[in-house]
Amino acid sequence: MTHHQFEFSQILLNWYNVQKRNLPWRHTTNPYYIWLSEVILQQTRVVQGLPYYQDFVKAFPTIEDLANASEEKVLKLWQGLGYYSRAKNLHETAKIVAYTYQGVFPKTYDEIIKLKGIGDYTASAIASICYQEPRAVVDGNVYRVLSRIFDIEIPINSSKGNKYFKALATELLDKEKAGLYNQAIMDFGAVQCKPQSPDCQQCVFSEKCLAYVQNKISQLPVKTGKTKVRNRYFHYCMVLDQENKTTIFQKRKNKDIWQGLYEFPLIEFAEEVSDLEVIKLIQANFPEIISIEKKSEKILHKLSHQNIYSYFWIISVKKIHKNAICLENINNFPTSILLANFLKNLQI
Ligand code: ADE
Repeated sequence: MTHHQFEFSQILLNWYNVQKRNLPWRHTTNPYYIWLSEVILQQTRVVQGLPYYQDFVKAFPTIEDLANASEEKVLKLWQGLGYYSRAKNLHETAKIVAYTYQGVFPKTYDEIIKLKGIGDYTASAIASICYQEPRAVVDGNVYRVLSRIFDIEIPINSSKGNKYFKALATELLDKEKAGLYNQAIMDFGAVQCKPQSPDCQQCVFSEKCLAYVQNKISQLPVKTGKTKVRNRYFHYCMVLDQENKTTIFQKRKNKDIWQGLYEFPLIEFAEEVSDLEVIKLIQANFPEIISIEKKSEKILHKLSHQNIYSYFWIISVKKIHKNAICLENINNFPTSILLANFLKNLQI
């Protein structure tokens, strides 16, 4: 493992000092409030979670108030956040702390993690933010920041990844300022090192970030399984009349990518097929064909969960379809970037 500990955490804390978001749970070390905020933030992002936090604190200013509430009232306040077992665990644990622990929230990671519904992430957050215990948090933000800055391709949803990132986070943690550091890295992930199109030019790590300098920000972090990429093979048929004046351009109707956009008649396959096979289908689909020309080599259009491999065929016919459009108007129709690029380069 690399050893950039001092530099990394120093740059991060300097960033946080200037850029930190002003959030109500940043003005307290009351473990009940920190716990509540962290459980809510596991469900949702800060902007959506904030009103829930405020409603909870208003309805139940102390852990005893939460303990004494009815389950209906707790669930009602949680309504819309999802994962209702989290609200039930919150309520149950509040009762244990209020009645069994005399209202005193446990003060160490090892004690906190014994509570129902509290795992490594929440226990680390509470122990570090409230009691300065040097425990590193690893949430989605931390996975993203560390995988990018240190160019780590181990899948974050593997047990190897869990262990690796926890160890790296622990190594990087500023042990004297654990609570501040943990909040800084989570804020940095949420505000600067965003999942989509982060502004890397304006980043304090722009020269050090191994993903950025290698232009691979969008490939990190790596996840296995869920993001299975599907391959699709599109053969677009640009059907033209003999004067090259009209063509068929139709709306995509199915519940699929590009619904509502226009395209040429499409023959789709789930795998690569021979030209002969495509030509046979073209001949079966369009009457009175004069010529068939394969216009382009394979073009790859990448979507998040699909690779679209596409080919364009130019088919000249004696008489065009009744719904044909004038070629000169084709750019008025909304279409995919894939087709727009094809049309831009097209010379007939
Ligand atoms: N996301 C989850 N917990 C957070 C925290 N304490 N600060 C910023 N973002 C968070």
